[in-house]
Amino acid sequence: MKISIIGSGYVGLTTGICLAELGHEIIFMDNNKEKIEVLKKLEIPIYEPGLKELLIKNKDRIKFVFDIKEAVSDVIFLCLPTPPNNNGEADINSIIQVSIELAKIIKNKKTIVVKSTVPVGTCEKIKQIFGNRANVVSNPEFLREGYAVYDFMNPDRIVIGVGNDEAKRIMKNVYEKLKEKIIFMDIKSAEMTKYAANAFLALKISFINEIANLCEKTGANIKNVKVGIGSDNRIGMSFLNAGIGWGGSCFPKDTLALIKIGEKNGVEMKIVKAAIDVNIKQREMFSKKILNYYKDKAKIAILGLAFKPNTDDMRDAPSIDIINFLLSRNFEIKAYDPKALKNAKQIFGEKIYYASDIYDALKDSDGLVLLTEWDEFKNIDWNIARKIMNKKIIFDGRNFLKPPKDFEYYGIGLPKE
Ligand code: UDX
Repeated sequence: MKISIIGSGYVGLTTGICLAELGHEIIFMDNNKEKIEVLKKLEIPIYEPGLKELLIKNKDRIKFVFDIKEAVSDVIFLCLPTPPNNNGEADINSIIQVSIELAKIIKNKKTIVVKSTVPVGTCEKIKQIFGNRANVVSNPEFLREGYAVYDFMNPDRIVIGVGNDEAKRIMKNVYEKLKEKIIFMDIKSAEMTKYAANAFLALKISFINEIANLCEKTGANIKNVKVGIGSDNRIGMSFLNAGIGWGGSCFPKDTLALIKIGEKNGVEMKIVKAAIDVNIKQREMFSKKILNYYKDKAKIAILGLAFKPNTDDMRDAPSIDIINFLLSRNFEIKAYDPKALKNAKQIFGEKIYYASDIYDALKDSDGLVLLTEWDEFKNIDWNIARKIMNKKIIFDGRNFLKPPKDFEYYGIGLPKE
């Protein structure tokens, strides 16, 4: 099938390139001309493992256009940003504007697939714009940054909200090669599923962090408690890694948006609110732990800036709040991240030193603070580290490192060594 992807960001690019891999012909459209020019050179403007290889492999089935008139196919995916507006509600303006534009130019019946995360009822609004010239379908994504290609090709489920059998038939063709994973449902439930999924994952992390904080006070070990509860298949082991909590472009945005959807419908989302509160406090708690140790300012080596490994994305990364806290207490920061330094420079400017590698960061430091669990940090040469650090102290925001016993080690939710 010929499929158009409107919006070539993280979600749009992954969706379109993977749909090409499934055998479809893809037209990408984005209103950012330079992004389209980069893509036309088969370059990917984001760091997403495996995506560039798939783009090159399927390049003969892929086109990039700047004009929406060239991006009208029978199936049109809307992968537009729905960022929080100033009161935290999801801003659906781009998706509405694009729908109005498309409605003016389409000549025959289309299938509009809303891939963006949108408040419940948005697809109904989009349907009103198209009238009977389009079926509108909700097809939320569950892609983790850094694993997006894997997640698209190996989904636990593909949730598709449809309003009629014609739309159902068309979407079965779109995902023909993954059809056994499709769960069809009504449109509003599909829209709600996305928020409920992200909010649940976020609160699962905040729950284990709350338990970790109590472990730290009682002498229990959160790593053991994780196994103890995660072995129950009703709970499951995933998303139970205690640490400095969640960031990124989705959990913070979607939890806030869900609270706003609740408010608009007269329902207070108490648990989701608590998940956000615990998450914010986790960053403060970790920052204060470092401050209380050094009492006064110190030179700190920060390893990891991205909101999680395998991405260059710094959006709402815990490292931002933690570094700003330490800078406000006159700490000197030397930071290293395998992929996120370019984005970090946009945030911290000249306020911190950008190290070229792990040891450039550790040199002359009074301590190592790990904020992102990049695999690269598993192989730190502690013999070098102990020679070049002023003090052998480690604050591990992801309970990730296993340093030798002569290093003072502080994790989260772990008993004192
Ligand atoms: C998330 C959802 O997983 C995905 O399904 C949705 O489509 C988009 O949002 P993403 O934000 O890319 O994906 O990252 P994810 O891997 O979910 O991690 C989110 C945050 O939680 C990261 O900051 C990560 O460090 C943190 N996290 C994750 C924990 O603190 N503990 C965990 O056990 C897992």
